[in-house]
Amino acid sequence: MTEHQKPNPDMLPNTSSNSLPVPDYLNVHYWWAYVHPKAVRFFERQWLVNLILWGNYNRLRSAVLADLGEPIQGKTLQIACAYGDITPLMVNRLGPDASLDIIDILPVQLGNLSAKLGVNEQVRLQCMDSSALKFPAAQFDQVLLFFLLHEQPREVREKTVHEAVRVLKPGGRLVVVDYSKPHWANPMRYFWKPVLWVLEPFARDLLNKGVQHWLPKDKSLTLESCQDYFGGLYQKLVIRKSV
Ligand SMILES: C[S@@+](CC[C@H](N)C(=O)[O-])C[C@H]1O[C@@H](n2cnc3c(N)ncnc32)[C@H](O)[C@@H]1O
Repeated sequence: MTEHQKPNPDMLPNTSSNSLPVPDYLNVHYWWAYVHPKAVRFFERQWLVNLILWGNYNRLRSAVLADLGEPIQGKTLQIACAYGDITPLMVNRLGPDASLDIIDILPVQLGNLSAKLGVNEQVRLQCMDSSALKFPAAQFDQVLLFFLLHEQPREVREKTVHEAVRVLKPGGRLVVVDYSKPHWANPMRYFWKPVLWVLEPFARDLLNKGVQHWLPKDKSLTLESCQDYFGGLYQKLVIRKSV
């Protein structure tokens, strides 16, 4: 897949000429959600992604869109595809000179997103590993991590966040949305945590320590805002890289 080419919507994992090996954590823990082509067709339903987030998808998506601005200006990178309409809505908001790059390690996910987006010269999809981005440093005005970090083992998560910051321009912003540490009175703590332990084993880190704990301790980064949703089960952070 070269720049500005879109992948085939029916593309299967590992069939593209430059596809990457599927990480073990995806094959073992997330084959049912992302890797298997039937899983992709099953999960790509707006009502279902909303249900999985206990009805919070629209709120979280709208909050991200508000942070990215309207129109979205400059160069934006979305690290990993997402089910639902967040990316199509981002594309609709792109200013005339803006661009949106989206990377994912699974060609089947890029194919699915490509089918949702259609052809658009301002948008580029590439097969890439979030923990080893092929972009030069300081390329993007905005970087989005939408529910990716909780799915990655600790060492991959740390590299992903490091890479997200590396490709951000000075003055640029990183927007992160993910599971976080629920408030002490949130009853979800008691019954959702055990479910997540089974379905999403790496989410434990975020639910125990919160998203912020996993951000690089880098003096060039300032937390601009931190918003809790659904009793703290979800969190959106906006981090600015200093000029
Ligand atoms: C963004 S996350 C979760 C999205 C969320 N469940 C949703 O759909 O709203 C899911 C995506 O992350 C991708 N992914 C996981 N590990 C990755 C990695 N190391 N590099 C790039 N993409 C990765 C998966 O292939 C999948 O498409």
